[in-house]
This record gives sequence, C-alpha cells and structure tokens, in this order.
Amino acid sequence: MHITMISAMDRNRVIGSDNGGIPWHLPRDTRHFREFTLNKHLLLGRKTFAEMIAWFTGQTPIVLSRNAELQVDTGFVAYNVEEAISIAAEEGAAELTVCGGGAVYEAALPYTDELFLTRIDTEVEGTIYFPDFEQDIEWEEVSREEYPADGENPDAMTFLQLRRLHPSSLRPSRMHLL
Ligand SMILES: NC(=O)c1ccc[n+]([C@@H]2O[C@H](COP(=O)([O-])OP(=O)(O)OC[C@H]3O[C@@H](n4cnc5c(N)ncnc54)[C@H](OP(=O)(O)O)[C@@H]3O)[C@@H](O)[C@H]2O)c1
Repeated sequence: MHITMISAMDRNRVIGSDNGGIPWHLPRDTRHFREFTLNKHLLLGRKTFAEMIAWFTGQTPIVLSRNAELQVDTGFVAYNVEEAISIAAEEGAAELTVCGGGAVYEAALPYTDELFLTRIDTEVEGTIYFPDFEQDIEWEEVSREEYPADGENPDAMTFLQLRRLHPSSLRPSRMHLL
C-alpha cells in the first residue's frame, strides 16, 4: 500500500482554521487536487469530511473519527490510521491518499511515502497547520512546478512532489505487507 498525502499551505504552513474552510480561492490548486484524488481512496478527518461531503465524485472517503457511533453514507469510518490502511487494502486499493485536516496529517505523516504539496506564496490568518514535515523525516524532491499569480489565481504557487528517503521506523512492519 502506497501512502500519499496532498495539502496546500501558506508560507507558514497554515492550512485552515478552527472555524473550518480553506483560507484562499485558487482554482489552479482546486483543479490539481481534483485531478490527483480522482477515483482514489482518501483518508479524511471527520471535520474535513463534513466540509467536503457534497464534493465526492468517484473518490472513496475513509473518515477518521474516535466516535464509535459515526456512520457515513459514502465510504467508510476508521478509528485510527492503521485501520484506514487496512480498509483501503481490503478494498483492493494500491494507494491511500491522506487529505487532511491538520489532525489527520499529523497522525498519518509517519506512514506516508510521498507528499504532494502546494506551497502558496502568501500569509493568511489561521490556526490549523500542516506538520513540520522536514523535522524528523528526510525527503527527496521528485518534481516542482512553479506558477506565478494570474487573473484567476491571486497568489503564486509551487506544486512539489517529495518522496521519503528512508522507510519510517514508526511504520509497523506488518504495514509493509499491505
Ligand atoms: N489546505 C489544505 O490542504 C486542507 C486540507 C484539508 C483540510 N483543511 C482544513 O483543515 C481544517 C480542518 O482540520 P482539523 O485538524 O480541524 O480537523 P480534521 O483533521 O479534518 O478532523 C478532526 C477530527 O478527525 C478525527 N481524528 C483526527 N485525528 C484522529 C486520530 N488520530 N484518530 C482518530 N480520529 C481522529 C477526530 O474526529 P472525532 O471528533 O469525530 O473523533 C477529530 O475531531 C479546516 O479548516 C479545513 O478546511 C485544509
């Protein structure tokens, strides 16, 4: 099972706020996210899932929650990241894509093989951050696409693809079998 993570963040790694919502409007990044996630199994926190509930078109959401009562009409509920990986594997998925929010990025980073990050050249107000992904993990840059601001997108942005250099020691060995 290949674990990927996709996120967009400002210069300070802000991704959102306690009030919910994405603090920018950048159609290029929205298209990038839609194209990348199409027909994939996605891991989402319960709050991000609630924000995106009307949005799914061919993706299979796996919703992370500690609430044993939670049920979803589309997709599955998992109580931890390992259970989500197992569900995706049982479904026959080759890839599980982690889509946030902040709590889920934090929980899933130790399991993640590849990052697809949009670095937005702006600073916004916000309380939810992408984790400090370079602190304990070494990544190699696979690709980089830079776009200036334009009439449709008020901020410049860079799409980055980063691959983990060494398998995580935090990733349980049985996970390699999935
Ligand atoms: N910029 C981006 O790329 C991006 C992407 C996604 C989201 N966002 C933004 O991020 C913000 C939401 O992030 P958030 O951190 O507040 O919420 P979240 O991660 O979407 O959801 C948090 C909830 O997920 C469940 N959860 C989280 N970690 C868990 C774990 N380890 N085990 C079991 N359940 C777990 C809990 O649900 P229960 O309370 O049900 O137990 C928790 O309350 C919004 O502003 C959203 O728009 C931004």
